[in-house]
Amino acid sequence: MDFTTKDVNLKPDRPTTLLIEKHSDYLAKYGTNKDDYEYCMTEYLRMSGIYWSLTAMELMGESHRMPKEEIISFISTCQNKESGGISASFPHDPHILYTLSAVQVLTMYDRLDAIDVDGVVEFIKSLQQEDGSFFGDKWGETDTRFTFCAVMCLSLLQRLDAINVDKAVQFVLSCMNFDGGFGSKPGSESHAGLIYCCVGTLSICKKLDALKVDDLAWWLCERQLPSGGLNGRPEKLPDLCYSWWVMSSLTMLNRIHWVDNAKLEEFILACQDAETGGFSDRPGDIPDPFHTLFGLAGLSLLGNSDLIKPVNPTYCMPQETITRLKLEPQILK
Ligand code: FPP
Ligand code: ZN
Repeated sequence: MDFTTKDVNLKPDRPTTLLIEKHSDYLAKYGTNKDDYEYCMTEYLRMSGIYWSLTAMELMGESHRMPKEEIISFISTCQNKESGGISASFPHDPHILYTLSAVQVLTMYDRLDAIDVDGVVEFIKSLQQEDGSFFGDKWGETDTRFTFCAVMCLSLLQRLDAINVDKAVQFVLSCMNFDGGFGSKPGSESHAGLIYCCVGTLSICKKLDALKVDDLAWWLCERQLPSGGLNGRPEKLPDLCYSWWVMSSLTMLNRIHWVDNAKLEEFILACQDAETGGFSDRPGDIPDPFHTLFGLAGLSLLGNSDLIKPVNPTYCMPQETITRLKLEPQILK
């Protein structure tokens, strides 16, 4: 039997310092040419793309380079008048994932007046099921991601009372596995992205004490590979975005030191594109705004750079925004 670890080798000529200006230029330029192939092909997730880019820019103190008024009016056009939900782009169908991204962006801009907030609340409320879970949209798929989106979105709007929070928490806990981790629904295998969603939900609802903390933190720290990078499940390659899904969860559990932080930092820095700016999933791949946010947010959690502002581990938004809203998600002591 072959027990070879799936991993990457970091090359000697990889970037080893943080290229902030390059990343700011990369994100400022992304989306300025609306005819670009890549821009057109990502229309179905445009709203989240704006959230990833704006948050990354905020963390670098560079958000003045984003077209604020254009973004705010774009979001207004994406709200569906009947359901109140928000879509990735006009005239797509509304979905809870893009509704959350829109609310996160408007919260950072302090411009929730640009949408019908009661409409958003009604949309989210309409998606909760008898077992406490949430559909993502009218088509009826359930996933712990959607529970997190519902709870985070309503907490940003200070309207958590609109749903049955106890049932939402019970549903999340029904997805806990023998290894302490969580999947997308009861009985589904543990996955670091979904662990972030479940731990994040419990953090907002102040129910982290229901976790098997040491089992879960052990499963999470075992995601680190010899390259320093983290994977999302056993036997998978490392991927930069797991620097966020894993490390934010470990931060909420107060176990970030269970991972070799210095080796992870080396891996994150190696995922930068020194020519174009931006971060990619693995060293040498093509950069994108999604991995650029999670590279910067991961470095923010590691806390060694004064060039990056503190990120909130539950909300993946600047701590200054969460503080302004007086939100206090639970972090274990
Ligand atoms: C990996 O997905 C990541 C997840 C499943 C978590 C996604 C979380 C959200 C959408 C909630 C909102 C997020 C934030 C930051 C506010 P993948 O499909 O890439 O998984 P794979 O690596 O197994 O393919
Ligand atoms: Zn990734």
